[in-house]
Amino acid sequence: MALTNYLLFLAIFCQISILSLSAKETSGSDDVYQVGIGGRDSELVNPNYLNNVDSLLSNLISESSLGFFNTSTGDVGSNRAYGFYLCRGDLSAKKCNNCLKDVRKYVLDRRPLESYSNGIAFNTDLQCVVHYANNSRSFVYRENTTFTGDGFGDDLAHNQQYNTTLMSTLQELAREAEYGNWTKANFATKVIDVTGSQEKIYVLVQCTPDISAMNCSNCISSLYSSFRPVAIGGRVLGYNCLMKFNNESFFSNGYRNFMASYILMILVLLSTTYIT
Ligand SMILES: *[C@@H]1O[C@H](CO)[C@@H](O)[C@H](O)[C@H]1NC(C)=O
Ligand SMILES: *[C@@H]1O[C@H](CO)[C@@H](O)[C@H](O)[C@H]1NC(C)=O
Ligand SMILES: *[C@@H]1O[C@H](CO)[C@@H](O)[C@H](O)[C@H]1NC(C)=O
Ligand SMILES: *[C@@H]1O[C@H](CO)[C@@H](O)[C@H](O)[C@H]1NC(C)=O
Ligand SMILES: *[C@@H]1O[C@H](CO)[C@@H](O)[C@H](O)[C@H]1NC(C)=O
Repeated sequence: MALTNYLLFLAIFCQISILSLSAKETSGSDDVYQVGIGGRDSELVNPNYLNNVDSLLSNLISESSLGFFNTSTGDVGSNRAYGFYLCRGDLSAKKCNNCLKDVRKYVLDRRPLESYSNGIAFNTDLQCVVHYANNSRSFVYRENTTFTGDGFGDDLAHNQQYNTTLMSTLQELAREAEYGNWTKANFATKVIDVTGSQEKIYVLVQCTPDISAMNCSNCISSLYSSFRPVAIGGRVLGYNCLMKFNNESFFSNGYRNFMASYILMILVLLSTTYIT
C-alpha cells in the first residue's frame, strides 16, 4: 500500500514536471524586431500594399506547420506583397505558429509609421523570420546579406579553446552545407566537446530551403565572417540563413524531456495499476 501511494505520488510529481516543462517551452524570448532593407522608405508605404502584407502574414501563419513557406498576395501590380517565413528547424509547429502570430501583431501594431516596402521581421531568439517585399526580385540570393547579430554570456576572449572549437565547427558546417549532406534538408545541429575542457558547444545553422547548397554554404560562411563570435552564446541572421550557438543545449530538448517524462509517467501508472 505504501508503495502504491509512493508510486501515485511519483505519477503526480511527473505530471507536475511535465506542466512546468511545457510552461518553460512557451516562455522564453518572444521579443520581435523589424528592419527595413535598403533603409527607411522616403514616403509612407501604400496602405493597399500594407493590407496585402497583412493577408500575406495571415497566409504564412496558416502554413506554419511547414517550417518554411513563400507566397504572394494581392492583385498583380505595385501593391502585391511577396514574402516567406522560416522557423528555426528545432521548433515545434505550435511554437512556430505562436512566433509568427507575434510577428504579425508586431508588424500590424506599428503601421503605418514603421512600415517598409521591403522588410524583415523576426523573433530576437531567431525562432522565426519573415521577409516581405513589394517585388519578387528581393528574394533572389545575394552574397554578404548578413545584417544582424548579437552575443550573450561570457566574453570569448577569455576562452580561446571554446573560440577555436566554435570557429572550426562553423567552418565545418559551412563545408558540409556545400555538399548538401546534412541529415535534415536545410538545417543542421551539432554538439561538440571543447578540446581540453568539460564544456560543450551547441550549434544550429539553417538556410531557407529555396537556395542551392552552394549558396547555403556561402550564406553560412558570411554569418560568422560578418559577425565574428564575441561571446559564449550568439545569434546571427542573414537574408537566407541564420545560426545560433551556446554552451547550453537549446534545441529539441524540451520535446525530448517531455517524451521521456510522459513515458515514465505511463510506466509508473501501469505499475501502480498492477500493484493494486
Ligand atoms: C517560392 O519560391 C520559389 C523559388 O524561389 C519560386 O519558384 C516560387 O514561385 C515561389 N512561390 C511563390 C508562391 O511565390
Ligand atoms: C516598391 O517600393 C519602392 C519604395 O516605396 C518603390 O520605389 C518601388 O517602385 C516599389 N516597387 C514596385 C514593384 O512596386
Ligand atoms: C562578400 O564578402 C567577401 C569577403 O569580404 C568578398 O570577398 C566578396 O567579394 C563579397 N561579395 C560581394 C558580392 O560583395
Ligand atoms: C577566435 O579565433 C579566431 C581564429 O579562429 C580569431 O580570428 C578571433 O579573433 C578569435 N576571437 C576571439 C574573441 O578571441
Ligand atoms: C547561387 O548558386 C547558384 C547555383 O548553385 C549559382 O549559379 C550562383 O552563382 C550562386 N549565387 C551566389 C550569389 O553565390
